[in-house]
Amino acid sequence: MLDLDDVLEARKRVRETSRHTPLESSHTYSAMTGADVRLKLENFQRTGAFKIRGATNRIATLSEEQKAAGVVTASAGNHAQGVALAATRSGVDAKIVMPEHAPISKVKATKNYGAEVVLSGRDYDAAAERAHEIEREEGRTYVHAFDDEYVMAGQGTIGLEILDDCPEVETVVVPIGGGGLISGIATAIKEQKPDTRVIGVQAEGASSAAPSLEKGERVALEEVDTIADGIATRSVGEETFPYIQEYVDEIVTVSDPEIAVALVYLLERSKTLVEGAGAVPLAAVLFEAFDYGDDETIVTALCGGNIDLNTLTNVIVRGLVETGRYLKIRTVLKDRPGALEDLLEIFTAHRANIYAIHHDRTSREVEMSDTEVEIELEMRGPDHVDAFLSDMREAGYEVDVLA
Ligand SMILES: Cc1ncc(COP(=O)(O)O)c(C=O)c1O
Repeated sequence: MLDLDDVLEARKRVRETSRHTPLESSHTYSAMTGADVRLKLENFQRTGAFKIRGATNRIATLSEEQKAAGVVTASAGNHAQGVALAATRSGVDAKIVMPEHAPISKVKATKNYGAEVVLSGRDYDAAAERAHEIEREEGRTYVHAFDDEYVMAGQGTIGLEILDDCPEVETVVVPIGGGGLISGIATAIKEQKPDTRVIGVQAEGASSAAPSLEKGERVALEEVDTIADGIATRSVGEETFPYIQEYVDEIVTVSDPEIAVALVYLLERSKTLVEGAGAVPLAAVLFEAFDYGDDETIVTALCGGNIDLNTLTNVIVRGLVETGRYLKIRTVLKDRPGALEDLLEIFTAHRANIYAIHHDRTSREVEMSDTEVEIELEMRGPDHVDAFLSDMREAGYEVDVLA
């Protein structure tokens, strides 16, 4: 098994290519939860995620002959960019196989970091198959995204930084996809400060780690579905599973709406952009997915900030819905002058700001003398929404809440 020395060695190797990222206290989340919440801002890492640490450590430990033959991997996400930059900085040629429909922004970023991108296959599995063919055909070394001890040790350097910057840490909260990140961090932390709790977090729609621990063997999900694409993994790794069994104190899950709320809080309150997987640890704290005490020092590992702008737009809207800041309703009005004005009086009284309003006279759902109206509103929170809806209903309007 990997030990602390391996992670300490990794630190020497990754120092040149990766940043020691900031660890900050958060008054906002501490006040909200009663705990002492800290943020490990790994979203500010080079390439926008922690993956460069593991990739650099893996590449640094290749023989000269292996380095000359180059590396290959498959990824549509952060690992692609991490391997690309790590290889370029180490003077090693990299081929990254990405699924044919990988977002153009990610393909571009990976190319910009200096890798050759091969587009192949409809999904990750097909891309990985092609990458393994290239491994055999060209004698390149395959750099696995998590199931590799050097990769895990590289990610473990985050654990060293957490202990350096926050020696009083009591609990560390880390997302789990394939498990490389938590295996490295847990090794670094448990071997130095064994009473620190390590909590692993998965998305509800991609939760294989807890059932695997329960069963004592790895469980693979048929399918995964979550906005946190960085951790949308069907199972934890073969190599990482023993570390999860050994070191992780508790595994919890968070839902997509909870992830969206945490992401929106981070944007609005902390001025920090994270991707879905990066928001997962804070979501687990805010929604009390595990128990913690007053003033407990909790470090949340915000591991990535690479989020597609379209996804971000959707997530922000969901986050606003969940926090009662955005409301979409449907109601029915008499199709006569003044009907809308009567309705708007309630809006004005509640200072509910209208984003959009849509009349539909053609709806078959309503009488011919009526019109259906869909309205999108900016609201101030759950209490504002409740008071507003109750006044509308009291005034005789039937209201369907659409979002
Ligand atoms: C942002 C982010 N967080 C967490 C993870 C999970 O890491 P691991 O697969 O090593 O568990 C990933 C993996 O890609 C990621 O990109």
